[in-house]
Amino acid sequence: LQPKEAELPLFFGWFLLSEVEEKIKCSTMEFLKTLDTMEAFKKHLSEFTGEAEKEVDLEQYFQTKTPLHCTSKFCDYGKAEGSKEYAEQQVVKDACDGASELAVVGLMVTPRTFGARVLLTPEQLQLWPPGVDKEGVPASALPSIEALPTGSRAHVTLGCAAGVEAVQTGLDLLEVLALKQAEHQPAAEAELDAGTLSYLGEGRWYLELQEAIVCDATFSSFSE
Ligand code: A2P
Repeated sequence: LQPKEAELPLFFGWFLLSEVEEKIKCSTMEFLKTLDTMEAFKKHLSEFTGEAEKEVDLEQYFQTKTPLHCTSKFCDYGKAEGSKEYAEQQVVKDACDGASELAVVGLMVTPRTFGARVLLTPEQLQLWPPGVDKEGVPASALPSIEALPTGSRAHVTLGCAAGVEAVQTGLDLLEVLALKQAEHQPAAEAELDAGTLSYLGEGRWYLELQEAIVCDATFSSFSE
């Protein structure tokens, strides 16, 4: 690493306070338990297991990595494009170590990832780099992703299936939101206490929460 690059973190983001982390882990695990036992979910089980008859315990299926957070800019210690420019922005410097509230408005489950959708406020969007929503998105999916509002990728990774990298959660979320927007896929919906559950094909589930879960968080940088 060059000396300049060494100063840059792995990523910037909003980190849930530890007591909030516990609260969100409990309520999201409840959702997995509910989903796991639904007949509609069992019907599509092979999309998770590869085999029709095999059972899946979603709580075991996803591995959680803490601290729970919503990434705003992945810097990779300066190797990611635009990292230095991002870190040098006054708005970013001013926000560091400041308190913020993250609004979790939905929960997503796919065979790869389990994530919470975050709806950023206009103030939080100032810390969301332009263009970051479409980073790593396959060219064929770009038109539908570009039609989504800025910040649609904002999320907290709650868990990943074995061998899946956390970066996949944002990509899965964009795909789910694009499908929901297009509504060309018949969504098998169920009304749960927590909100409206949609099925978007290929093992993709989305629960739109009736009431947002507001999580106290701190904006900061993270390095391992
Ligand atoms: P996410 O924000 O979806 O949770 P890792 O543990 O793989 O080093 O990643 C550290 C954090 O940075 C994770 O939160 C991860 O995903 C995010 N991240 C990793 N790679 C990228 C990337 N290429 N673009 C955006 N975010 C990334």
